[in-house]
Parts: sequence; structure tokens; C-alpha cells
Amino acid sequence: MTTRFEIIVGSMLGATEYVADAIEEKLAAIGYQSAIHLTPNLNDLEHDAIWLVCTSTHGAGDLPDNIQAFAEQLPDAELDQQPYLVIGLGDSSYDTFCEGGKQMHQLLHQAGGQPLADPHYVDVLAHPIPEEEALSWFEHSLQQPKVRARLSGPGVLV
Ligand SMILES: Cc1cc2nc3c(=O)[nH]c(=O)nc-3n(C[C@H](O)[C@H](O)[C@H](O)COP(=O)(O)O)c2cc1C
Repeated sequence: MTTRFEIIVGSMLGATEYVADAIEEKLAAIGYQSAIHLTPNLNDLEHDAIWLVCTSTHGAGDLPDNIQAFAEQLPDAELDQQPYLVIGLGDSSYDTFCEGGKQMHQLLHQAGGQPLADPHYVDVLAHPIPEEEALSWFEHSLQQPKVRARLSGPGVLV
């Protein structure tokens, strides 16, 4: 049980940072703690927390530069059922739609993490203000039994 979220961000142009900021604000408003990691490092993350990875995709299906070092740490990590959620931003005109988010989900899962919900992929073509769609998904996720089971504390949701 935790009251904390570690928000792990992969972003090149800033759109995913807005998503992370909006989620951080929401969490603060309902009484949960969170920290945003813009240069994420495995050693800086608390395990007594839900990890929320927010990442875009760049290049041809690549992770943003700032999250690549973190991704490279994961194959050697033992996450021991670490609870996590993934939200990806991408553009559906690319064949490699949200490949970055898909990679992060795969890496966390293979390292032994436990996804608390299916990853959510936001198409920025359909959602020009991605943080709105992301927040709506996140608020819905907070109500899901697997997430509720991991959260203690205020419980004043959305
Ligand atoms: C050079 C470039 C390459 C991109 N490649 C992909 C891609 O392969 N797959 C995808 O789903 N989106 C791709 N996108 C779209 C971005 O993921 C999308 O614009 C996202 O909102 C950027 O978020 P950020 O500002 O946090 O980096 C690309 C965007 C740019 C500018």
C-alpha cells in the first residue's frame, strides 16, 4: 500500500511533460504524493510507490533521448512485482505508433513489474490536447480495483 507515485517521463518536445504535470497536479489535489523524473534513473525511484511511465515516441519508433538510459537499466533490473502504469503519446500516421510506450511496457513487464492496467496510448492526431485525454484515462485508472488495492491514504478520488 502506498500514497506515492513516481512519474517517469520520456519527452523530446515537451508534450509528454505537460501530461506528467497535469497528472502530478491531479494527484496533489486528491492528496497523493508524486515526483516527476525527467532524467529517470532506477536508483532514484522508490519501490513503495506506483510507477507511472509517460513517454512519447520519436525517430522511427524510438524512445526519447532522456528516457533511453533508464530503458537500458531495465533488462538487468529485478522489479519484484513493482506496480506500474504506462501512458504513451504518439502519432497514428507513423507505422511505429507509440512504439516507445510499448517498449517501456515490455521492458517493465519482463523485469518483473506488475502492470495495474493495460497501457494507454494517446494519438495526438485525435487528441490535440493530449493531457486532457491522459487525465481522463488516469482518473478512470485510479478507480480500478488493481490500483485501489495498491493505494492507501486519502482516497478522495477525482
Ligand atoms: C521527428 C519525429 C518522429 C516521431 N516518430 C514517431 C513514431 O515513430 N511513432 C509515433 O507514434 N509518434 C511519433 N512522433 C510523434 C510524437 O510522439 C508526438 O508528437 C508526441 O506528442 C511528442 O511528444 P513529446 O513532445 O513529449 O516528445 C514523432 C514526432 C516527431 C517530431
